[in-house]
Amino acid sequence: MLTLSLAVRRTEAKARLLPSAFGQQKAMDSAVAFIVCGTLNPHEALPAALKRTLDAGIIDQAIHDSRSRHVPGQPAFQRDEAIRSGSLAAMTLMLAAKGQGLVSAPMIGFDQLAVAQAFGLSATEVPVMLVTVGYPGSANWPQKPRNAVNNVLQFV
Ligand SMILES: Cc1cc2nc3c(=O)[nH]c(=O)nc-3n(C[C@H](O)[C@H](O)[C@H](O)COP(=O)(O)O)c2cc1C
Repeated sequence: MLTLSLAVRRTEAKARLLPSAFGQQKAMDSAVAFIVCGTLNPHEALPAALKRTLDAGIIDQAIHDSRSRHVPGQPAFQRDEAIRSGSLAAMTLMLAAKGQGLVSAPMIGFDQLAVAQAFGLSATEVPVMLVTVGYPGSANWPQKPRNAVNNVLQFV
């Protein structure tokens, strides 16, 4: 099954999220709180994705067939993949929100198991990050000073 992230918008759903997010009020106050998920079983969605790509004429039958033979990696790798994919999705959401004039907050302050239970996630779906999105609050801090590029990036 394809992994689904959730856009938590209804008050009832936000109230369900709140205790799993350790009572962080952002979960209630934001316009939407995304539960960004990654999957431990990405290979399950592969056949359908490959078929679409084949039908669109982007890949040929040989590439389709060779990629269809993809086998799942070790559990640690699969989990890394889920976190990587979810993190990319979370950052993309944040940039899209910024582009719409909104603000966002990535949150790892939540109980993964509790979130999974509260929203009926399957055992192969990993709630990677919460991302709250909305209009800026009047008490929000301004953007904090950033690291200089040379402090975080080494040119080699
Ligand atoms: C991965 C990650 C997880 C975070 N989790 C939380 C959280 O659970 N609760 C929270 O209030 N802030 C959390 N923060 C910090 C806020 O999102 C913080 O306001 C933001 O990173 C600061 O952004 P700014 O430097 O642009 O102001 C987290 C930040 C990151 C990068």
